[in-house]
This record gives sequence, C-alpha cells and structure tokens, in this order.
Amino acid sequence: MLNNILKKIKKILGSLLKSRQEKRHSLVGAGNLWKMKQNFQIQFLKDQGLKSSDTLLDIGCGTLRGGIPMIEFLDLENYYGVEVRKHVLEEGKKELKILKLDYKKPNLISFTNFQDIHIKTQFNVVFAFSVLIHLADSIAESCFEFVGQRLKTDGVFFANVNIGHFPDGNWQGFPVVFRTINFYETLANKNGMRLEQLGNLKSLGHISGKDGSDQQIMLKMIKV
Ligand SMILES: C[S@@+](CC[C@H](N)C(=O)[O-])C[C@H]1O[C@@H](n2cnc3c(N)ncnc32)[C@H](O)[C@@H]1O
Repeated sequence: MLNNILKKIKKILGSLLKSRQEKRHSLVGAGNLWKMKQNFQIQFLKDQGLKSSDTLLDIGCGTLRGGIPMIEFLDLENYYGVEVRKHVLEEGKKELKILKLDYKKPNLISFTNFQDIHIKTQFNVVFAFSVLIHLADSIAESCFEFVGQRLKTDGVFFANVNIGHFPDGNWQGFPVVFRTINFYETLANKNGMRLEQLGNLKSLGHISGKDGSDQQIMLKMIKV
C-alpha cells in the first residue's frame, strides 16, 4: 500500500520535473534522449553537405524534434514535414511557435496514405529518421514510390533501418521491423535510386547507450 503511494508520488514528481520539450518529444521516442536525437539529426545532415538553399522533405517529422533545427537552418519555406499522426504534428507546431520559428513558414502536412500527398516540389534531400523501422512492407513500398517521384536527379534519401532477422515488435501502436539490406535495395532500385550504406548510427555520432538504436544502419539512396 505505502509502496504504491510512494511510486505514484515519484511518478508525479518525475513528470513535474520534465521539461516542456521532454514531455512533448516523448511522443516520438524516449523523452530523456530528445536533445541528443535532435542534435544528431541536424549534425548528420550538415556532415552530409546540407545547404540552406536545399529543399528538404522530412518524412515522419512527428513533433519536429529533428525538424526544428532543420527549419532554423534552411531558407524560408524550404522545409517540408509530413506526418501520419495529426495530434503529434500539432504538438510540433506549438513548439515551433514558442521558439518563434514559424516565420520560416515550413510546410507541415498531415496525411494518411503516401498516395494522397499532393506536393509538387522536387526535393534535393529526403530524410526519414526512425521511420522506416516502423513501416509495414506495403507502406514502405508506397513510401519509396513517393520518394522516387519527388527526388530530383542526384537528390538523396537518407533513412536509418533495422537490419537482421528478428520478429516484428511494437512501438506506440506501430510495428518495429527488421529487414535485410536486400529488401531496401530492391525498393530503392525499383524506384530509380542507388543504395549505399553509411554505417551504423553509433559510428555517425548517435550515442544513446541503447544498442538497439545505435546499431541501426543509415542508408543513403541517390536518385539516378
Ligand atoms: C520515432 S518517430 C521519429 C520522429 C522524427 N523523425 C524525429 O526523429 O524526431 C517516428 C514517426 O514516424 C511517424 N510515422 C509512422 N508511420 C508513418 C507513416 N506511414 N508515414 C509517416 N509518418 C509515419 C510516427 O507517427 C512518428 O511520429
């Protein structure tokens, strides 16, 4: 009894001590890792040569945990974020307002099926951070088809994936999938992209202390 009350008090205190961002970004992953994951994404893109004049599509942008520094860095209107969970994207918009970054006019779109996104823009860079790991195969197919249509020639699609033979898991109602490199290479080739492996996230500076995510492989797929 006393133990249960103490546990509840600890939970309430823990929640009160969490920062606004930690609470918000826990909709897209471990709350205590939000800053590291934010810093990793923008640093990774800059290391890969992201320029402020690039037009970037962030697939599964969620609460804009990764998107906020991209919006800050890119020229006006050059950031596009698409997300399936409307209420999660709304949290991102609130955060953007608090940080006074809405003047950058990012294009934020909630959608259900990739086939229903009607964006005419051709992108230099498409990024899907911790998204392909949650896509059922039929959705991954639509995603690659969409990216293949929207990437400029020589444009690049970066995405991290789980490679291996493990049963699918579950995260916030989405599957957690493990596939072969061949699975992603086939999808890339089918949609006019050449696939390269950039190494695991840890080797690229993603240090979460969680082997499951640090060992994920970052793919670079170039539109030919
Ligand atoms: C782990 S979170 C990563 C969020 C963001 N990329 C970041 O790292 O800050 C994965 C996001 O992908 C979104 N998602 C899942 N399935 C999706 C789909 N089919 N299309 C677009 N987004 C999807 C989820 O709603 C979630 O917001």
